[in-house]
Amino acid sequence: MAKLLHLQSSPRSDRSASIAVANHFIESYLAAHPADTVETFDLWHAKLPEFDGATLDAKYAIMNGLPHSAEQLAAWQAVVAIADHFKSADKVLISLPMWNFGIPYKLKHYIDLLAQPGLTFSFTPEEGYKGLVTGKPVAVIYARGGAYAPGTGAEGYDQQSVYLKLVLGFIGFTNIQEIFVEPTLAGPTAKDEAVATASGAVSKLAVSF
Ligand SMILES: Cc1cc2nc3c(=O)[nH]c(=O)nc-3n(C[C@H](O)[C@H](O)[C@H](O)COP(=O)(O)O)c2cc1C
Repeated sequence: MAKLLHLQSSPRSDRSASIAVANHFIESYLAAHPADTVETFDLWHAKLPEFDGATLDAKYAIMNGLPHSAEQLAAWQAVVAIADHFKSADKVLISLPMWNFGIPYKLKHYIDLLAQPGLTFSFTPEEGYKGLVTGKPVAVIYARGGAYAPGTGAEGYDQQSVYLKLVLGFIGFTNIQEIFVEPTLAGPTAKDEAVATASGAVSKLAVSF
């Protein structure tokens, strides 16, 4: 029995294109994998710890091989809980809108907590950086108002998929499946059409995921 963790990062609930496609993915996934479980982690309702001074000091203490103060230890335990929760999943689904060509700040906050030495990546002078989250697939559903596919001339503006793919690779993912829901703002029916096309694609992907 595997656990699929869905990181949901649009605040738009029923109006969200990325959540609508993610729901199609989950429906198809559960039909094909009835013994598995799905947990949706809504980044807009989760109480994410601040990534503040004490947390940063705790991070640098680890990188410099120094012990934690009591304050740093408490801050670090909250970060470890986020990473442990993420790593408890066998498979990951991330759904997100494009915001100002990048990712929404709640997802960036989560990534800043997650991408930590000793938890999701390691560094040694001999081997350099090594991702520690290995052997798990991740599917990413990117919704965006415009269109950024190769040939559109707008590829260079897409700092949403480029960044997310880079950071997922950095922490160890090699099996990264990408689904694009676009353009959602190109006219009155654009969103419904983009959601329908992407839903067809994710239904197939979810079966073999
Ligand atoms: C704050 C904000 C910034 C946005 N920035 C962009 C952008 O830079 N490029 C783009 O194509 N669409 C942009 N959009 C449009 C959304 O990416 C688009 O509506 C997407 O379908 C939203 O996904 P959702 O319905 O899952 O939230 C933006 C929307 C919001 C609310």
